[in-house]
Amino acid sequence: MGGLAELLATRRVVVTVGSGGVGKTTTAAALATYAAMEGRRVLCLTIDPARRLANSLGLEEMTLDEQAITAERFAQHGLELKGELYAMMLDTKRTFDDLVRRYASSPEVRDRILGNKIYRYVATSLAGTQEYMAMEKLHAVRAEGDWDLIVLDTPPTSNALDFLDAPERMVDAIDSPAMRWFIQAFEGAGKFSFGLVGKGAAFLLRGLSRFTGTAFLEQIAEFIGGINDLFGGFRERAAAVSGALRSPDVAFVVVTSPAPMAVREAIFFSDRLKEAGMHRDAFVVNRVHQLLAEPSAPREALLAAFEQACPELDAPSVLERTRRALEDERLRAVADRIESDRLRAHVGHDVLFVEVPALEEDVHDLGGLAEIARYLTT
Ligand SMILES: Nc1ncnc2c1ncn2[C@@H]1O[C@H](COP(=O)(O)OP(=O)(O)OP(=O)(O)O)[C@@H](O)[C@H]1O
Ligand SMILES: [Mg+2]
Repeated sequence: MGGLAELLATRRVVVTVGSGGVGKTTTAAALATYAAMEGRRVLCLTIDPARRLANSLGLEEMTLDEQAITAERFAQHGLELKGELYAMMLDTKRTFDDLVRRYASSPEVRDRILGNKIYRYVATSLAGTQEYMAMEKLHAVRAEGDWDLIVLDTPPTSNALDFLDAPERMVDAIDSPAMRWFIQAFEGAGKFSFGLVGKGAAFLLRGLSRFTGTAFLEQIAEFIGGINDLFGGFRERAAAVSGALRSPDVAFVVVTSPAPMAVREAIFFSDRLKEAGMHRDAFVVNRVHQLLAEPSAPREALLAAFEQACPELDAPSVLERTRRALEDERLRAVADRIESDRLRAHVGHDVLFVEVPALEEDVHDLGGLAEIARYLTT
């Protein structure tokens, strides 16, 4: 077994990570497709609502409930599905809601949190929430035990490391001094009483309320009070999620493009994974340009061929432009080679290293995913 094939045959969770736009979603979908074709029961979990991904799996759109990609769809591309493949899109808000339902101390607290305006913002838009909820959902789905393999595609973050310490950061944010001031000031009466907090905090809160109005601050305090109620549960949960990410049946696949910026981030990311005690199982350098050969035919022969193929065009100028395009492509191939080798030298030889060429067109169907998968697994 070569490339990532063994990983896909033996692990229970594979997480694709990397910076924006490098091909995480495509890689995740290709890996899931391959594992399912080889006979495993696979769930491909993504945050990306991208139509293109849904379409390439042969689906109308990604949904919040699991959808089967049937054997017939595979057959339409001449592919055989021995196992099962399902795809599902993550809903950050719904995952967070489930967490609140599970850990709220009473139905009243639960409803107060779920109905709170600030909560609705935090659950959908706050930086880091998506990352945390991706990990949370992964943990929940894995515990259900319905799948041989779960492939998780992580969110397109500007900071590719966000999700690593997302559980801890979430807990730290809830347990901060500022949060405690809020709760103290709000406690009891259901509205602010600045007498309950120290002078400094009261001054700060009073100043804040002048900008935002007390109603807004009360929403915040209510939210924080509610979240605080969940705190014990959250902390335990975050520890469990964090621990699960480090277990030996979880594999991380770092995806990058050969662009210098992306490679720099991949190196940084790889170091962080190592520090955090996570496995770095594989690196995928995606969209590598191939070194094309110079044309072996002489100029006259090429001109004649162009003239014959498209007599309406000016052959010398077409030839010139083609030459320039070839030159560009060769330069990119050399640059990609340098970057890919630099990354390989950095990560060492105890991790898998796979290159996937830049295909001529976007990956838009199961056939395309299977083609990517061939490069990933051989
Ligand atoms: N090897 C490849 N050859 C050609 N096109 C590719 C290749 N890999 C990915 N693509 C295309 O590149 C685009 C971006 O890929 P993809 O959506 O997988 O990136 P991503 O890392 O998930 O992005 P984001 O960070 O926005 O989630 C898609 O249109 C995809 O079809
Ligand atoms: Mg993506």
